[in-house]
Amino acid sequence: MIVFVIGSGAREHAICRLINKSKLCEFLYCIPGNYGINKIAKCINLNSSEEIINYCKKNKPDLVIIGPEKYLAEGLADDLRKQKIPVFGPSKLAAQLESSKDYMKNFCKKYNISTAYSETFDNFDDSIEFINSRPGKIVVKYDGLAAGKGVFVCENSEEAKHACKKIFIDKVFSGDNKIIIEEYIEGKELSYFVLIDDESYQTFGSAQDYKRIGEGDTGPNTGGMGTISPAPILDNLLEKKIIEDIVIKSVDGIQKELLEFKGVLFLGIMVDELTNEPKLLEYNTRFGDPEIQSISMRLDSDFLSTAHSVATNNLAYSDVKFNSTRKSICLILATRGYPEEYPRDTVINNLEDINQSEDLFIFHAATYQEEGIVKTNGGRVLSIVATGNNYQYCRNKVYEVAERINWKEKYFRPDIGLLL
Ligand code: AMP
Ligand code: GLY
Repeated sequence: MIVFVIGSGAREHAICRLINKSKLCEFLYCIPGNYGINKIAKCINLNSSEEIINYCKKNKPDLVIIGPEKYLAEGLADDLRKQKIPVFGPSKLAAQLESSKDYMKNFCKKYNISTAYSETFDNFDDSIEFINSRPGKIVVKYDGLAAGKGVFVCENSEEAKHACKKIFIDKVFSGDNKIIIEEYIEGKELSYFVLIDDESYQTFGSAQDYKRIGEGDTGPNTGGMGTISPAPILDNLLEKKIIEDIVIKSVDGIQKELLEFKGVLFLGIMVDELTNEPKLLEYNTRFGDPEIQSISMRLDSDFLSTAHSVATNNLAYSDVKFNSTRKSICLILATRGYPEEYPRDTVINNLEDINQSEDLFIFHAATYQEEGIVKTNGGRVLSIVATGNNYQYCRNKVYEVAERINWKEKYFRPDIGLLL
């Protein structure tokens, strides 16, 4: 098969690694890819839906896998399917489950899916009135895509009002100014993945994401500083509840609404500390980054075969197998300063000296090479992933590699996978 993977992050590097391992793969292209991906796929530097569609029309891939939500929200999957190209990636309509919080909330109401109580507002004054009526911790969420920056978990009404001001008065996000204000839920979070086509679904692993920049979950939110898979809090009882209360109802809703969902649904779940019930915080309509980096290293079955079956509505016949005893940890190496200001074009000296194997892999997100030197061009730069029979083994391994990497500006959290 000729396979195109769209995207340029560590998530796409993880997807490319799985595709490259498959015996079914003849040619693998990544659009645009990055320096790390370039070692296992041919990278093509295209950066818009239009360019990608034209390239696909000419080269007729057997499968296109779309990584980033931006392209899904633009309807790239629909446009490619119109050209009769099999696509792993939901339609524009289905991508609204992620791209609009208001759409997601209405969907949950309609299909009785357990989620935090919320109300939607399109102006500053009504938002303030609502906040005044509900003192204490509260969450303000911008309605549209905001690269992980649209959620404000507020300690009190003052902070919540400040968030509303940023959105409605300062207009820090582009697009329609709509927000949802949501009850705060105290609990433990996990990320849960489900493959879906028009006729069936299969679960695809879980992970715990460390979202804050600092040790002990302190400091600002980031795109994710590490993950462990499977999520340690996920026992059989909780998984049964998640499937019954969230997965089956979501898949049922997607089919009833005719959303044309051929891809992966990522459930951001909070397990309520008071009731022990799972509540849905968000849907994403793509793989999580850095969740897929750790989950993918535990997969024992052929991902290309499964992804193709999703794209062609044959998921029911696909055999998805994870190694149930194997654990995995992903540690992110970021440029010091992230998620605020940080330097670019910093130099990583000895990446090529580190041996990679079936048990240890370094995925790249923001690297490039210039005159033989590896340099950085982003915040989250490398994902070091180790797998093994227990979390402690994985932890020792990823931290040993993190220490060895000779990069002056590196930063990583010291507590990924600790206290299990
Ligand atoms: P989201 O992008 O909706 O997943 O939100 C980003 C992060 O904010 C989540 O991963 C949670 O840590 C936190 N968060 C979002 N909604 C809530 C809520 N209702 N209660 C508590 N924390 C929340
Ligand atoms: N790790 C969270 C995300 O990919 O949105």
